[in-house]
Amino acid sequence: MTEPFSILLIGSGGREHALAWAIAQSPLCAKLFVAPGNPGTAQHGENRPDLAVSDHAAVVAFCRTEKIGLVVVGPEAPLVAGLVDDLQAAGIPAFGPTKAAAQLEGSKGFTKDLCAEHDIPTAAFARFTELEPALAYLREHGAPIVVKADGLAAGKGVTVAETLPEAEAAVRAILDGTEGGALVIEECLFGEEASFFALCDGTRAIPIGTAQDHKRVHDGDRGPNTGGMGAYSPASIVTPEIAETVMNRIIAPTLAGMAARGTPFAGILYAGLMLTAEGPKLIEYNTRFGDPEAQVLMPRLSGDLVPALLAAAQGDLSGIAIGFDASRAALTVVMAAQGYPGAVTRGTEIRGAETAGEETVVVFQAGTRRDGDRLLADGGRVLAVTALGASVREAQSRAYAAVKRIDWPDGFYRSDIGGREVAREAAAGEAGSHGA
Ligand code: AMP
Ligand code: GLY
Repeated sequence: MTEPFSILLIGSGGREHALAWAIAQSPLCAKLFVAPGNPGTAQHGENRPDLAVSDHAAVVAFCRTEKIGLVVVGPEAPLVAGLVDDLQAAGIPAFGPTKAAAQLEGSKGFTKDLCAEHDIPTAAFARFTELEPALAYLREHGAPIVVKADGLAAGKGVTVAETLPEAEAAVRAILDGTEGGALVIEECLFGEEASFFALCDGTRAIPIGTAQDHKRVHDGDRGPNTGGMGAYSPASIVTPEIAETVMNRIIAPTLAGMAARGTPFAGILYAGLMLTAEGPKLIEYNTRFGDPEAQVLMPRLSGDLVPALLAAAQGDLSGIAIGFDASRAALTVVMAAQGYPGAVTRGTEIRGAETAGEETVVVFQAGTRRDGDRLLADGGRVLAVTALGASVREAQSRAYAAVKRIDWPDGFYRSDIGGREVAREAAAGEAGSHGA
């Protein structure tokens, strides 16, 4: 039996509150530190906003002083900056991919090349750094077509272009920049999207649930994209057969390919899928838990998260039993500050967030700040009101009932989170058990 040890969690969002909530429940967690943390994570551990996460030497020194037995990295930026590499070099177990393995999220071109090498189903694609060949490719293939900037920091994201002029404008916006750029042009896929999460140790993977996000800011999937306005799990559209195909055709060859390159992937592989008529295809990878997907995955976990994260960090998941409870569904509704995803006003008071929870409801905090007894909004996405239920419909009605108990006139939320799944459940007569 391993003795309980101290854990350091990196991050400050709703995802990290959900991770802190799950980690603190483990008998193996002697003490939890969260850097920087938020008022939600402070309910489960000690926040350390004084620890500069970008100063890796300072994080290593902190881990030595506090005898940290495991570091869990929530967001992507510290992964891409190589925090896990530096911790591992110092002999400190750290959960999350190395800098080289985080390229699966950091570089779309890298991931597309890996897919091509290992016959992983994905949209047909080509990579460009020059304008003329890119424009010629567009003309040859026609619209609809998808244009993606390469790299995390590109900031110009993804354009699903319905017309050729729209695609050309997107290509020019990326390649005309003074510093040049790189892009991927790919075939437009059709189908429903779902997210698939696997816990990986470099060679093995354990599926730990599926989810669907709601990226657009307004009801009916209208308005600009956001980090995610709500999610539910499971996504029943990912049937057990589809889940098996994803594990065999997408996750396993990705791990094999990364190991063969000498950059094995350990951490969370979050596959964004398009469920096409020809089967599931990979749209993109993230190399961490989603936010707000973590808020619906954590409450559905069966088994202790901490030994699973430690085993993944140490490269051996073989003795680990973790999965998800197929009899439970979860749904989270994000409450955001007016104006999000644009500029928001900070400092407005939220009342009732800390008493809106109950046995089946947890209010995870993201952009919040404490001022004495008052809880204030301090960011775009502020709360993730999360409920469990026997069905997504039950979780949905509990989550919205809790949202209504929160008094925050300066916030807003989507009122249709989970709507598509609830309609599917109704069509299926709410019979049977849940998927992944
Ligand atoms: P992002 O999360 O910013 O990379 O945006 C990706 C989104 O763009 C996905 O969630 C899809 O909705 C859409 N998308 C990306 N690639 C494709 C594709 N090949 N075909 C259709 N839609 C795509
Ligand atoms: N909710 C989408 C993400 O975490 O990337």
